[in-house]
Amino acid sequence: MTLTIFYATSTGKTEDIAQRLAALLGANTDVRDVDSLASAEDFCAVDAMVCCVPTWNTGADSLRSGTAWDTYVEDIADISLAGKPVAILGLGDSSSYGDYFCDAMEELYRAFEAAGARMVGSVPIDGYTFNDSKSVINGRFCGLPIDEDSEPDLTDERLGAWARQLQQDMAGQLG
Ligand SMILES: Cc1cc2nc3c(=O)[nH]c(=O)nc-3n(C[C@H](O)[C@H](O)[C@H](O)COP(=O)(O)O)c2cc1C
Repeated sequence: MTLTIFYATSTGKTEDIAQRLAALLGANTDVRDVDSLASAEDFCAVDAMVCCVPTWNTGADSLRSGTAWDTYVEDIADISLAGKPVAILGLGDSSSYGDYFCDAMEELYRAFEAAGARMVGSVPIDGYTFNDSKSVINGRFCGLPIDEDSEPDLTDERLGAWARQLQQDMAGQLG
């Protein structure tokens, strides 16, 4: 069983975080750029996945990432991922974009949820400073927000705790 970490990026931060998460999760972890996919069907071929997405399209109702994820987000909802474990990780800036913090996570979360995936990896909002985020669902972030712009000193701790959470939530998929 392998875990695939998918990412898309504009300035490289999301790729860096994807690689750092892969190092924490260890063997049986692949990292793939969404730009390299042929179609949304490629998501059907993996055992479990983490989807890493920055927010660039500030305040938008749709296509919030502003990266290659926007090419796939509508198609994802139409594929079948029945029971496949999926976690979302978002990059954003809680200081400059505190009204839209990591908004793109929610759009991907809804798409994979509609495809029948088993969504894991939500985290409490405690410890984050922001005004609003579409990615808060039932009082929790629907994935892990990472803020390399304003809170890079907290990234190691957040990634480490989340990696341990994923190893529990995806037990059996991570080897
Ligand atoms: C023009 C612009 C718009 C942005 N919009 C948002 C936003 O709406 N919400 C947010 O949390 N971060 C926003 N950000 C911050 C980026 O998401 C953040 O810098 C992220 O780490 C970029 O990841 P990347 O290097 O992988 O593309 C924005 C940054 C810029 C420059």
